Amino acid sequence: MKGRIENLLNEIGALTAQVPDEVELLRLKYLSKKGLVSVLFDDFRNIPAEQKKEIGQLLNHLKNASQEKIESLKAAFDEKDEVHEQGMDLSRPVDHMNPGTRHPLSIVRNEIIRIFGQIGYTVAEGPEIEDDWHNFSALNFPPEHPARDMQDTFFIAKEPEILLRTHTSSVQIRTMETEKPPIRKIFPGRVFRNEAISARAHCIFHQVEGLYVDKNVSFMDLKQTLLYFAREMFGEQTKIRLRPSFFPFTEPSGELDVSCNICGGKGCNICKYTGWVEILGCGMVDPAVLENCGIDSKIYTGFAFGMGIERITLLKYQVKDLRLFFENDLRFLRQFTGTL
Ligand code: DAH
Repeated sequence: MKGRIENLLNEIGALTAQVPDEVELLRLKYLSKKGLVSVLFDDFRNIPAEQKKEIGQLLNHLKNASQEKIESLKAAFDEKDEVHEQGMDLSRPVDHMNPGTRHPLSIVRNEIIRIFGQIGYTVAEGPEIEDDWHNFSALNFPPEHPARDMQDTFFIAKEPEILLRTHTSSVQIRTMETEKPPIRKIFPGRVFRNEAISARAHCIFHQVEGLYVDKNVSFMDLKQTLLYFAREMFGEQTKIRLRPSFFPFTEPSGELDVSCNICGGKGCNICKYTGWVEILGCGMVDPAVLENCGIDSKIYTGFAFGMGIERITLLKYQVKDLRLFFENDLRFLRQFTGTL
């Protein structure tokens, strides 16, 4: 008896109906006088007295559950009827929507954030309109440095000098001024330089800056971090090479080349037949920069790096002309859906 009740309970629980008439048939099958549930009640008379209490409870539960199930099947159709009465037709095909796609620069920026996120870097942003201190002075640019020149920088006001930031290194300063080490962050953002627009240069572009400050941070940590990044971004087979360079805010400074992922290092017009392409600048944060931000350079060291998102995207997708990123031609933009 118990087994029969359980089977019926499961069977009824799984019932569905496509049309209202089906619900009525189900009601008759289970709940009418000769229905399967009612028949069990008839058999109830014949079971031994000591089982009556337990079986009786189970039977009542079955009956209630069956009635509820049939009611809920009915109610579902009542709701549908309401939809009809209100003039809605849920079977009508939807209007075609054109949902758009992610911009390739956003795809690559998100990928950079993901890659560094995996090794504990969080994301911060800073203002696009900056003062001289955060964009230049705190970063150790001497007053006569050519990067401050009107040729490069879009100035908004003189005295005090307000400008459009020329790089995201400014966010390094803002972060170190307000936070205590350990700091492990990346700073994506838009930057501006007074350059003629061409296939290889634009006056607006995007960078991601990275900063890691703690006790005992060494150049070895920097190199390993960049190797990890290059392999994640361009593939496991990617090799890196660091060349000495100069930036006012890092000492020593370097530029990072990755093996050309287009020709595999054999030489092509993208890598100018060298097998290598430069992707970023980097170095150990100059102690003077740490001190400018109130961080004790006798206790802490750090590294920083900065890369152009356009450049990484050009390499990753073999786009030949940077201007395409800013024209918003849907035929161009649609090609990147689902690429990452
Ligand atoms: N700010 C530099 C630029 O815009 C890039 C850069 C170089 C950032 C070296 C750094 C760095 O953090 O260490 O060209």
